[in-house]
Amino acid sequence: MSHSKDIRSMLSEHEKDMINEELSHYPTKRAGAVEALMIVQRQRGWISDDLLLAVADHVDMAPAELDRSATFYNLIFRQPVGRHLVLVCNSVTCWLMGADRLRERLRSRFGIDAGETSADSRITVLPNVCLGACDRAPAVLIDETLHGPLTADELDRLLDSSLSETLP
Ligand code: FES
Repeated sequence: MSHSKDIRSMLSEHEKDMINEELSHYPTKRAGAVEALMIVQRQRGWISDDLLLAVADHVDMAPAELDRSATFYNLIFRQPVGRHLVLVCNSVTCWLMGADRLRERLRSRFGIDAGETSADSRITVLPNVCLGACDRAPAVLIDETLHGPLTADELDRLLDSSLSETLP
């Protein structure tokens, strides 16, 4: 089996179908390349080097160029992330309204700073520029749902309910 065939077989038929459907909405394949990565990430959780190569091959892009696009969009994960994602806004309005207290609570509860994953892989905390919800500062995105304004105690309660869904 040739190397390029190996790489192509990294993507399932289902993933390729979904990517092709998405790409049909774009003028060029490369214009839809980040969406293609998002599709694979939703299936796999994160984008390994092999998956990056496979998607680059599928959308006719140089892997290094696709990697740069992936890095630019900080919601493409090039390393494993926890089962739950917590994005804490680090822009000025949220900072003024006490986002530090939320980060401090996450640090004391899970022992992790922004950009880190808890030892049990249940949660990853990521810094994020303005979430577009400054009127709800300090705002946090938990698994794609926006919350705010939040106190540290309210954040704890939200996480209690999110994390309890994944307890054995
Ligand atoms: S500054 Fe935090 S949502 Fe805009």
